[in-house]
Amino acid sequence: MRALVLLVSLACFAGAQHQALIDYLERRLLAIEDRITLWHEQTNRYASELRELKQQMVAQLENLDKEKETLRGNLDGVGARVDRVERELDYMETQNGAQPCVDVDDKLVEQQVTQVKEKNKAKYSKLSGEARPGLEDCSEMISSIKAMKILKKLGGPKGMWTKDASGRSGKVYVLNGTDDGTVYEFSSMQEFTGSPGVSLAKALSLPSLWRGTGHLVYDHRLYYVSERLAVVKYDLRNASVADSVVFPAEDGVPVYGLTPETVVDLAADEEGLWAVYATRRNDRHISLAKVDADTMDVEQMWDTACPRENAEAAFVICGTLYVVYNTPQPGRSRVQCVFDVNGMVSNDEAPLIYFPKRYGAHSSLKYNPHEQLLYAWDDGYQIVYRLVMKPKLEGRRIPADSEQPSAVGFTQTSSLDNNNNHNNNNNNNNDARFLLLLFVC
Ligand SMILES: *[C@@H]1O[C@H](CO)[C@@H](O)[C@H](O)[C@H]1NC(C)=O
Ligand SMILES: *[C@@H]1O[C@H](CO)[C@@H](O)[C@H](O)[C@H]1NC(C)=O
Repeated sequence: MRALVLLVSLACFAGAQHQALIDYLERRLLAIEDRITLWHEQTNRYASELRELKQQMVAQLENLDKEKETLRGNLDGVGARVDRVERELDYMETQNGAQPCVDVDDKLVEQQVTQVKEKNKAKYSKLSGEARPGLEDCSEMISSIKAMKILKKLGGPKGMWTKDASGRSGKVYVLNGTDDGTVYEFSSMQEFTGSPGVSLAKALSLPSLWRGTGHLVYDHRLYYVSERLAVVKYDLRNASVADSVVFPAEDGVPVYGLTPETVVDLAADEEGLWAVYATRRNDRHISLAKVDADTMDVEQMWDTACPRENAEAAFVICGTLYVVYNTPQPGRSRVQCVFDVNGMVSNDEAPLIYFPKRYGAHSSLKYNPHEQLLYAWDDGYQIVYRLVMKPKLEGRRIPADSEQPSAVGFTQTSSLDNNNNHNNNNNNNNDARFLLLLFVC
């Protein structure tokens, strides 16, 4: 009996303890749940605060970006305005001293022509009969651009102007714009500079519109690139189409990255006619072809290592292609890649040639081999650049086995890098400015 009582009381005690334990555990669990809820709330708050902060940061960054853009825009605007003022000043200068200045200029040109002729004569007499005149004869490259002269302000931002590059006519031609059909013909340089606008010019209507600025006047004939990308040979004396051919540029790839309207650029040098173009097959680099001026046959083609990117124009002198580069925001133009079909001038030793002034962009550059002048169209200004030449270095021929046969002629690819002659631009710059001062009359 005693034992039974003990047992029951023990069981009661154990039951009570068990209950207490359960209560205790429940309380603890509740407390933990509360705390977990609290953490949840806190975490959510932190997360949303973080999100807000992030949004604020993004907004501020965007604002900063916008401000940066505005600042850059303002700076560009100021730069462009300074350029414009500089150009206007130059133009005013040429306008004020105009007539005597142009006279002197024409005399200089004449003098230069006779000089070049005499030099050529001397070279011919040096060469014995078996040498092919015209090819071996020509062995000069640019050493620098000595001076510039703004002759007129006429037409829109893009265009092309030139004298007859064959030297057989003193007439001046203006092809304003990149898609027009009216050529203005001035009977002389004097008439061109003296004419208010195009009032003294004869207007010639072409049978089709042109495209780009790659045209050429050679031996009384205008070679222009039509809308359909054919090269049309147009006789300027009797105003009739003499011939029309489709060039390797039928792909329509622009030759120069910065002058996208031009698909073929025709050039003349001491050796005849050239076509500068681009193909889809080799669309990062510029290609060159030698063209027969009479039959318009392509005689030979080359793929050069000169990139199209940031190129604005090019010209050929003595069988050497000079490609002129600029920046998308017009800065200083410079010759930064050369390609010599005879392999006598390599890109490494060709100097980096800066144009005399920080200017806009050249939409065309036409070399006149008889005057050794470049006719440039720069944002509606007609400019002449005078070149200083030097002999090409001898003994640097690219071995003939690098030439590979191709359908029309053969392809020669220069493996030279064009980025490694940046170092002496300051000197060039100063020289150019100094000489420019000497040239202003
Ligand atoms: C030249 O072309 C521009 C458009 O590119 C045109 O506005 C301007 O009137 C033209 N000027 C002449 C003289 O034809
Ligand atoms: C235009 O002149 C050239 C040479 O001066 C001549 O070959 C051509 O036949 C002439 N064309 C016309 C249509 O008279």
